[in-house]
Amino acid sequence: MDVNFKMDAPVKDSLLDHTGQNIISRPFDRVEGPLKVSGTARYAAEFKFPGLLHGVLVSAPVGKGRVASIDGDSAEQMPGVVKVITDFGTFLRNCAQGMDTEAPVQGVRDVSYFGQPIAVLVAESHEAAREGAHRLAIEIDRAEGRFDFDARLDTAEPKKDSSQQKGDLEAALRSAHASIDAIWTTPSQNSAAMELHASTAIWEGDKLTLYGSLQMLASNKVQLADALGLEPDNVRIVAHYVGGGFGSKLGISPESVAAAIAARELGRPVSVVMTRQQVFDATVRRSATQQHLRLAADAQGRLTAVAHDTITANLDGEDFSEPASASTKFLYGGEARHFSNSIVRMDQVLSGSMRAPGEAVGMLALECAMDELAEKLGLDPIELRKRNLPERDPMEGLPFSSRSIAECMDIGAAEFGWSRRAPAPLNRREGDWWIGYGMAAAARSNMLIKSSARVALTSEGRAVVKTDMTDIGTGSYTILAQIAAEMLGLSMDLVDVHLGDTNFPPASGSGGSFGASSAGSSVYLACERLRQIIASRLHCAPADLVLSDGMARWGNVSEPLGDLATDGLEATATIEPGDTDKAFLQASFGAHFAEVAVNAYTGETRVCRMEGTFAAGRILNEKTARSQCYGGMVFGIGAALTEELIHDTRYGNIVNHDLAEYHLPVNADVPQLKVRFLEERDYAANPLLAKGIGELGISGAGAAIANAIYNACGVRVRCYPITLDKLIDKLPPA
Ligand code: MOS
Repeated sequence: MDVNFKMDAPVKDSLLDHTGQNIISRPFDRVEGPLKVSGTARYAAEFKFPGLLHGVLVSAPVGKGRVASIDGDSAEQMPGVVKVITDFGTFLRNCAQGMDTEAPVQGVRDVSYFGQPIAVLVAESHEAAREGAHRLAIEIDRAEGRFDFDARLDTAEPKKDSSQQKGDLEAALRSAHASIDAIWTTPSQNSAAMELHASTAIWEGDKLTLYGSLQMLASNKVQLADALGLEPDNVRIVAHYVGGGFGSKLGISPESVAAAIAARELGRPVSVVMTRQQVFDATVRRSATQQHLRLAADAQGRLTAVAHDTITANLDGEDFSEPASASTKFLYGGEARHFSNSIVRMDQVLSGSMRAPGEAVGMLALECAMDELAEKLGLDPIELRKRNLPERDPMEGLPFSSRSIAECMDIGAAEFGWSRRAPAPLNRREGDWWIGYGMAAAARSNMLIKSSARVALTSEGRAVVKTDMTDIGTGSYTILAQIAAEMLGLSMDLVDVHLGDTNFPPASGSGGSFGASSAGSSVYLACERLRQIIASRLHCAPADLVLSDGMARWGNVSEPLGDLATDGLEATATIEPGDTDKAFLQASFGAHFAEVAVNAYTGETRVCRMEGTFAAGRILNEKTARSQCYGGMVFGIGAALTEELIHDTRYGNIVNHDLAEYHLPVNADVPQLKVRFLEERDYAANPLLAKGIGELGISGAGAAIANAIYNACGVRVRCYPITLDKLIDKLPPA
């Protein structure tokens, strides 16, 4: 019998606190690690089928226009080239989001952005396909494009239903003891996942199997079916291993549709791998933002007004606009509140979600505005924040499900040595470097997404977990194994986790920091059901059952688990969000601290130390959680100091569309990071009592660096990234 559990009320307790196996939360190594480091784990581009053909996407060489002709016939004379497919009806624009169920059709005769795929050239080898695609003669009637975000800001139109207002903002600003009214900008960014977007498609009759690099298989399957005009049941997606996504693989992208179309037309399996440049040009990006922050405070440093208005860019017809004020809405109090999003229409590649869409860029503005306000009020930045932590969510009046933010700030400050911070800039000099400390809050909304899993017990006493959940480098395999091992009293090596196949029960997928707790809850519930069945077979109450060392025990009865499962014992469970979603404000919280050195002559910034203290409910695996936070903090360093996609405002192309020119922080840019977790349980979040952690580490991280830069050298840069050219002229005379 299947279990369906809706999170309509906080749970009273979690079995994970009572099974006594000491497996959950422990820092186990990744169970699939050896496969990855030995090259045995197969990624989407590594499925080699007999007769496999290689497709390369042909990119539009203009930013706006109409395809007049593509000379496929000549290209097909080239050695190794099989076919140029220019299916103008069915090629696609990307799906920006994982939850989208429809794939917006884009007749590719009309070019909407530079590098847009307009054909796929299929050849016997990848090299021949690249050569053919490179030489393919294309004629395009160019049109005037909209490529300059900054110049078009005044054309921004309000995003539908994005405006929220409370109280009298203008009056609060007028009567403020201290206020901030300033604009921050963040640039366009790319997720830059290590694994390129790739798909290998193979048909059997009218059934398609696609080996893809995707984050949310259950909805990706529906998107792909929609794109191809198939019933979802005729599509199977496999993604056992995914080399990072960070949002760029939430929805399908052109290579998956191209591979499927080409394989169908040619009757052979086809693999399409994007080049690094194509990933930058034609998947999805984080939009540039312009954020207008207004804060007002009284003489006691209590906020009386908070306003956060955001402008982002997107293609015509796309209504995603990064919700930069996501955490501004609930982090601090203040009676008057005002939030809005507007969209500038641009002929540039789709903008969508990238790690912590909303908080990642919004906190780069909010947490610096708070730093500026603290200075005006003569308050310590931590004190200002603590004075303004609202008792309840200031928008809807909801209670927080759990919120250890003040503890994170206090413990983080003590461990970091915050008391040694000079309250004013230009106070600490070491050789050629100005030294400064900065801090920022961390916050990221917590979500629960419907998710199913099946857990079976074998007669050999092994547990087998199956769900179409993905592991995009986050640790899903390991965490789900830990949950099953903890719940069933098995050692980790007796649990097999199978992920990444839409033949398995549909899961939440990986996104929005909801994967581990959503998919994990379904595994928990399936195991709880198995415990009930085992208890009934032992004729005891579930609460009296003890599972450990592969044995089921009750009183002086003891039986090997496998002996109780000779009939193929299994349970399927589904978790779905319910009323606790609306009854509580749910978020993970923390505090970032950074020490930077700014070169007094060149303005170069080096991050010397960085520490994050986080509380996200139960930590499911201390090692994978810590790695997530490290990764997020590195993203924060990139956002603060280096990352910026540069679009040529004349032609619309991305100038720095590779990893040589798009500057991600590398090892030499990242000091040894410190991450600590506070013990917490969240009873409204899910039966694991865990909250999301994947995107918490980035949220606020860059602002701590920006604030540290100010504390070092006395320069506020509100235009990210804070590169040395923005500092050098403002530094005190050497
Ligand atoms: Mo995340 S941006 O939901 O992968």
